Amino acid sequence: MPRTVTVRAPGKVNLQLSVGPRREDGYHPLVTVFQAVSLFETVAATARDDEEFTLSVSTGPSLMLDPVVVPLDETNLALRAARAVAERYGITDGIDLEIVKGVPVAGGMAGGSADAAAAVVACAEAWDVGASRKELERICATLGADVPFCLHGHTAVGLGRGDELSPAMTHGEFHWVLATQRIGLSTPGVFAEFDRAVAAGERTVANPAIDDRVMAALMAGDAKRLGEALTNDLQESALRLAPHLDRVLAAAMEAEALGAVVSGSGPTVAALARSRQHALAIAAHLTASDVADHVLTASGPVAGATVLLEQ
Ligand code: C5P
Repeated sequence: MPRTVTVRAPGKVNLQLSVGPRREDGYHPLVTVFQAVSLFETVAATARDDEEFTLSVSTGPSLMLDPVVVPLDETNLALRAARAVAERYGITDGIDLEIVKGVPVAGGMAGGSADAAAAVVACAEAWDVGASRKELERICATLGADVPFCLHGHTAVGLGRGDELSPAMTHGEFHWVLATQRIGLSTPGVFAEFDRAVAAGERTVANPAIDDRVMAALMAGDAKRLGEALTNDLQESALRLAPHLDRVLAAAMEAEALGAVVSGSGPTVAALARSRQHALAIAAHLTASDVADHVLTASGPVAGATVLLEQ
């Protein structure tokens, strides 16, 4: 019987995203605080007895977006993840991967990175390679800057490219509203716009540092203070490429969000609510204002990549 392992991994919002000057390798030094939220990618991996790697992608019920925009070729991060696990452990068998998407595509919420983290865990289990947690982390780090966090989950500080993680102390649950756009933004494109603005003298750039206000608000479980402390150095660049996001941020504040910020490289806007009830009220206001293509609610922090089923 072929063995199928189903793993889910969460998307994220960035509570702080501070960006330093572009490095030689094209990456930017970051200080970021990630929080994993309750929107999940699910990846089912079934080991094959031939060498084929196959991929299918469908959209979960909470996400009414067109999955066609997800690449199905070898650039797909879940396929790259499967290849990386096979290479690391000398596996010559193939795998069938089935992804069900619950994180907005190209939205700044690490949906592709969650696919990669889930695929690493699912393939390692399906092929029974006996990988340690450290080894899984190492493979994740080769696949992209956000992938280790999707494996880790919860709330964490990310340094370096964002992949040098340490857990952050938090209390309680935070309630989020995520306003997504049908047309995504490219992460390299948003970083390139950031570099253009720096080179043009339109903005300054400094070595990033951790924001004590964010850490204190998390530790205290104080959503009001966290809302006031949300920052994203990429927001201005995302707004320049997608100016209508201004209206989303304004509409969230009209509904008395505690804070609203572009998530990662956007275009998803994350608004922080006082409670689940308040999140639903903000979501209703954003939907009525017609500023986003889809509005979701979620809570965080949640665990990282988790095996749901082995059969
Ligand atoms: O690592 P990942 O492939 O997810 O990153 C996508 C792109 O985002 C990179 O190619 C780079 O252009 C940009 N990036 C960056 N600095 C970071 C993380 C990502 O410039 N720390």
